[in-house]
Amino acid sequence: MNSLLLLIVVLAVSISVSGVDIKYTPYGDEDFTDVLEAEADKHHIWQIPQFDGSFKSMTEQEAKELTLLSEIPKRIKNMVSHFRNKRRKIRFFLYTQKNVVNWQEIDMDRPETLHRSFFNSSHVTRIYTHGWLNGVHVIQSQEMIDSHLMNGRKEDYNIIIVDWSLWSMTYNYYLAHLRTRKVGLKIANFIDWLHSESGLDFETTHVIGYSMGGHVAGITGKLVTKGRINTIIGLDPAMPLFWLKNPENRIADTDAEYVETIQTNGGMEGFQFPLGQATFYPNGGSRQPGCKNDFFGACAHARSVTLFAEAVAKGKDNSFDSLKCEDWQEMKDRKCSEDAQGVKIGDPGNFGRAKGVYFLNTEGEAPYGIGKF
Ligand SMILES: *[C@@H]1O[C@H](CO)[C@@H](O)[C@H](O)[C@H]1NC(C)=O
Repeated sequence: MNSLLLLIVVLAVSISVSGVDIKYTPYGDEDFTDVLEAEADKHHIWQIPQFDGSFKSMTEQEAKELTLLSEIPKRIKNMVSHFRNKRRKIRFFLYTQKNVVNWQEIDMDRPETLHRSFFNSSHVTRIYTHGWLNGVHVIQSQEMIDSHLMNGRKEDYNIIIVDWSLWSMTYNYYLAHLRTRKVGLKIANFIDWLHSESGLDFETTHVIGYSMGGHVAGITGKLVTKGRINTIIGLDPAMPLFWLKNPENRIADTDAEYVETIQTNGGMEGFQFPLGQATFYPNGGSRQPGCKNDFFGACAHARSVTLFAEAVAKGKDNSFDSLKCEDWQEMKDRKCSEDAQGVKIGDPGNFGRAKGVYFLNTEGEAPYGIGKF
């Protein structure tokens, strides 16, 4: 189901262009979307994934002629409407050692939901956001929860899973990408509110996002007002429509005290060039072992979450050791040789330590959980 969903995600990248909704009316008075629309409009070019894994540039008109929209099977449409949250708002679900299975919803409009919850500001808070065509009921949310709370070490965290399916569940990738700004703003408001309401400590606050959610996490970091987020982690931040030269609209290395990215499908669904203060490239960062027939890179893309979860679950053992590279080119050429001295993906200890480009070889790492390699 997961790989099916991911395949659809990539398919929908190409499909979405036939349903381009340039005349989209922003919600409320947030006008960021206008700026982004103008930016996208200037380029007038769509990157359409091809079966051989490359991207083809097309004009909007050419892309529209593909008219793939009619080919979306009905069951996929049903699935999307099933996952879309009906509450008309972005929702936040808390998991801790005291409730690893049953979430507690935290609602800013009802502060008692926070005060009665197991949220504890003395623990590290990790907020996870999904991406396009995703909601909370996906394997990646479970990987986040399990790896932190069910690894056997009983360390406590406030794990908060964000649900912005209200806005992500559209085939129109273009539209969803325009919405990242206001989702980031909502999460930023939520973090500021947690700080005022219950003493959330910015120094122990991490925001983690997968795919398009990686950019949401970065934007969140740009928009908080009551402090500076300690750590932002982008799990294979999505590439289509997020321009390297436009760091305002994507995850950037200045969005938090420490920004880490784990890039597993560079040049396809994810970015190729390093985006974080520290950037990890598992297995070279474009294709992943065990991902067979990965035409669209869906498997390699999702591997960023599985590897992160795996590293978190394993904690401080000797697995996931990385090599430090001089730069991206050296990583590409597989010339990295310097031992990174225990720096590993997702480790809270990376703060103040990890910097630059890292290569790691994950062949032979046994997966702990759901995402069987
Ligand atoms: C919050 O966590 C700290 C450290 O684990 C613990 O000492 C304290 O009792 C917790 N507070 C509540 C209200 O559970």
